Order: sequence, then C-alpha cells, then structure tokens
Amino acid sequence: MKMRKHVSMLIATVLVATVALAGCGGGREAATDSAESTPVAESSTEDTKTPEADTQEAAVGFEEGATIGVSLPWLGTQNWKEAEEMFKTQLEAEGFNVIVQAADNKVPQQQQQIESMIQNGAKVIVVGPVDGSQLGAVLEEAEAAGIVVIGYDRLLENTTGVDGVVQFGSIRTGELQGQALLDGLAAQKGEGPYNIELFGGGPADPNAPNFFKGAMSVLQPKIDDGTLVVVSGQTDFTQCATLDWDNAKAQSRMDSLLSGFYSDKEIDGVLSPNDGIARAIITASEQAGQSIPVVSGLDAENESVEWIWAGKQYSTVAKPTDVLVGKTVEIIKTLQAGGRMPETDVTVNNGKKDVDIYELAPVVVTKENAKEAFANDPDRLALLK
Ligand code: BGC
Repeated sequence: MKMRKHVSMLIATVLVATVALAGCGGGREAATDSAESTPVAESSTEDTKTPEADTQEAAVGFEEGATIGVSLPWLGTQNWKEAEEMFKTQLEAEGFNVIVQAADNKVPQQQQQIESMIQNGAKVIVVGPVDGSQLGAVLEEAEAAGIVVIGYDRLLENTTGVDGVVQFGSIRTGELQGQALLDGLAAQKGEGPYNIELFGGGPADPNAPNFFKGAMSVLQPKIDDGTLVVVSGQTDFTQCATLDWDNAKAQSRMDSLLSGFYSDKEIDGVLSPNDGIARAIITASEQAGQSIPVVSGLDAENESVEWIWAGKQYSTVAKPTDVLVGKTVEIIKTLQAGGRMPETDVTVNNGKKDVDIYELAPVVVTKENAKEAFANDPDRLALLK
C-alpha cells in the first residue's frame, strides 16, 4: 500500500479553510469555553515558553532521536494500515525512534502496549483508541510521567491524559454521507419515496455515533416528511451499529433485513459508515437478487474507489491518511523543538476536560468528481480506468 507524500495536496487545500493549523498567529478563541481548558500557545512561531505554562504539559522539548509511541486500534481497514506505515516512515525520517503497535481491537492489549511505551521512555504517545473511554487510567499514568498524548483519528474520552486530538470532522463526515445518500437516490432511483436502511460503525469508537448523528441531521427531516422510508423501522444508532466495525456482521444484518423486510420490495439506498461495510451491504443486496442500492462510504479504500468507478458503490468520503499523519508529525516536531501544542479553534468536552481538536475537512467522492478529487493521488487515480 504505497502512499506518496504529495498524495492529497488537492484535498489538503480544502482543509486549509477549516483548520487552524500551526503558524496561524491569530490566536482564535476556542469554540467552547472552559475554565479548566488547557493549553494553547503557538507552535511554529517559536514563542518559546508561555509564562503560565500548563503544568500538565511537557513544553520543554526533548532530544532528537527520542522515542515516539503510536498505538493504533487495529489494522482492519485501509486507513489504519496506511497510518501504521506512514507513521513509521515519517517519524523515522525525522530521526525518531518509533514504536508503532496495533491492538487487534482489544482494549487490554492496547492498555498493555501503551504501558510498555511509557516504560520505554516515550516522549509522545499517539493513540487511536479501540474504545475511546477505556484508556483513562493508562493515559493519566502517561500524563503523570510528563508524556504528551495525542489522540489520532478518534477522540480520547473520560481522561485528563490527552493533550489534543488530530482528526477529520466526525459530524461533518456523517453529514457528507447523509447528503451523498440523498443525492444518489435523486440521481439514480427516480422519484421518491425511497426505501432505505441505516448502518452505523463500531459502538466503542467515538467516531461512530458522531458519523451517525451527522448523517441523521440530514436524513431525519426526509424521513419525517416521507421522502425516505426506513422499512425496518430501525433508526436508533444502537440498532444500526456494527460491533467492532466488522464487515461480516454488517453483511449478516443486511441479509436479515433483506429477507425480513424486502422479499416483496426494492431497497433503494443504504447509509453505510465506511467502505468495508458498504461493500458488505452491496454484496448482500446482489446475493438477494436486488438491484444495487445507492450506498455511501468512507475512507476511499482502493477496492471501493474501483467500485465507485464501476458504478457499484455510489460514494465514499476521503479523509486522507497522509494528511492526518503529516499533521500529527508536524505537532510532534514542534514539541520536540520545545514548542507547545498549537492553538485550535475547536474543543470538545471528553467527560473530564475540554480537548483541543485539530480538525481537518473530509471530502465526498463520487464517480463524478473522482478524477478531480484524486488528481494528486497517483495510486488512487490509477484505479479509475
Ligand atoms: C475511522 C474510519 C475507519 C473506522 C474503522 C474510524 O474511527 O475514522 O476511517 O473506517 O474507524 O476502522
């Protein structure tokens, strides 16, 4: 899985609009206010130490060649495999000693891996949690040891042991998915009303309810006015979630929905939270003799990019891993040089503190804009043929 540095320049330009990146000296206030909200001093402008340095934050820099830990939840989707490789390559290129581990979707395994990163003297630990709320104690141990903890792609909940999170807007991602479903139905399935079903991601992942919430903010009014009919009646996140983001579980739920509710009906569309689940939904539909419904997705996985180009999957949402890893590495370099976590204009309360979010903008991709969206991504562009 080769990714190139320049991969997502086009998408990166879109990001600029919504991200308060390092180097913006504007000092924008956090969107939500909080008395105990931490950090925030400039990063790349070298304004060295702020007088009232946050005691919880290591702002004094560390040696080149220091150990950086990266703890990923699993390698079950393309984005995490890309992250594993890119963190290794990019951090090693910066001269760091890098420990990258993935936890196979198991909380205790991830706790142990982070524990051993602490014991190995990591200066920064980057964490994409299996379960956003189950790492509180070990992250607070890292905090007590003066280690900077950066959440990656997913929020770290219920802990003070987090210094910031780098991610693509999760509510925004869901909005794009919901809108793509509506657009695809109008483009491909004639006049409504449309029969649809809803799928969510893994309930332990803090992104999953947000993706669903964002999508429902677009879809619910259309359900209410009768344009969309959820034939099964299953519209709560808990009914629609897919344990562990497991494609096989999504496929068997889709099989049951089709046999239980669609023996005499066409299914027109399905909200899918990512590409793996989208392909499972499409496969189940084909096997049930349905014509292919309009299905949303996420991650711009290679196989789904091909399916979109072939007209089999309607849409995906690109959240380029190289951009997310690049932003994280940029923050780590700032910290190494003695700077502090850069300022953000978005914070989210994680149950214990307001966490700074370095939020990037996801981009919806359909067959119509695929060439343009991947113009600077030669690997994905090569799939469009
Ligand atoms: C990520 C998605 C990914 C999913 C399952 C989510 O937290 O944002 O990119 O598809 O996890 O791995």
